[in-house]
Amino acid sequence: MIKHVLSPLDFSVQELEDLMDLANDIEKYPDKYAHACAGKQLATLFYEPSTRTRLSFESAMLSLGGNVLGFASADSSSAAKGESVSDTIRVISCYADICAMRHPKEGAPLVASMKSSIPVINAGDGGHQHPTQTMTDLLSIRSLKGSISNMTVGLCGDLKFGRTVHSLINALVRYPGINFVLISPPELRVPDYIIDDVLKPNNVPYTECTELEEAMPKLDILYMTRVQKERFFNEEEYLRMKDSYILDRAKMELAKKDMLVLHPLPRVNEISVEVDDDPRAAYFKQAQYGKYIRMALILTLLRLSGAVPMELPS
Ligand code: CP
Repeated sequence: MIKHVLSPLDFSVQELEDLMDLANDIEKYPDKYAHACAGKQLATLFYEPSTRTRLSFESAMLSLGGNVLGFASADSSSAAKGESVSDTIRVISCYADICAMRHPKEGAPLVASMKSSIPVINAGDGGHQHPTQTMTDLLSIRSLKGSISNMTVGLCGDLKFGRTVHSLINALVRYPGINFVLISPPELRVPDYIIDDVLKPNNVPYTECTELEEAMPKLDILYMTRVQKERFFNEEEYLRMKDSYILDRAKMELAKKDMLVLHPLPRVNEISVEVDDDPRAAYFKQAQYGKYIRMALILTLLRLSGAVPMELPS
């Protein structure tokens, strides 16, 4: 039975804990895993731009002793000639053992998984989900704060189109003592389906506000996000929204001494570079955790030595 990863909820909390344990072990003892994927191939099928996700997947596979193939844009694949995702994945299944797919259309990795004979990992689908970023975020929080529970988490910026935010909320509601402060302009509020289908049914406390300064003193974690230019239909609207929040040294003065600043990256203007040297700024370390959790995920989906035991789909 093949396990695909389309949402962070495809793993139980225990399975995620086990994946994070494995990622921490990989970080500590990389040599132990250096040949674990010898003879295996990862395909990266990226129909949308990426730096971290694609390259961390590729770096992960290479560091496990495997090989990589793939494309970095729809234009450089036969999608440009009109090939469907379903046909592409049937072909890629002949060439690779596992694949990571990013696509601008929500649900494209799900469609691919239905025709695939290899594990498909959703590497970001439209404004929907980005499960491996969420695993990266959870690993960053657990490694740097010691626990994922009992936190006030501020999510700031584009909460409407930011798929990393949607995935992270879905994942965090499963941990005890989490409450959210949702900081956005009214136009970029978190979608109603997240409030109605995720926060309310799980009785997770949340408040919404428009001012970052007001939220800062309460937060244990501040998760900044970029305004997602590529999801706007109207350039003028994007330009009006793009600098809604800029985290700078003055705002950091309002925060707890041990607050963690995370950002899935890339950043544009929303975190001033003067914050980078603050010991609470963890976004580059977070990008590094992205490689370790993807190494753990590849090992596990391929059921190779060291892999986490998983519930199989029925
Ligand atoms: N965090 C993230 O998904 O970055 P990329 O778009 O560069 O992959």
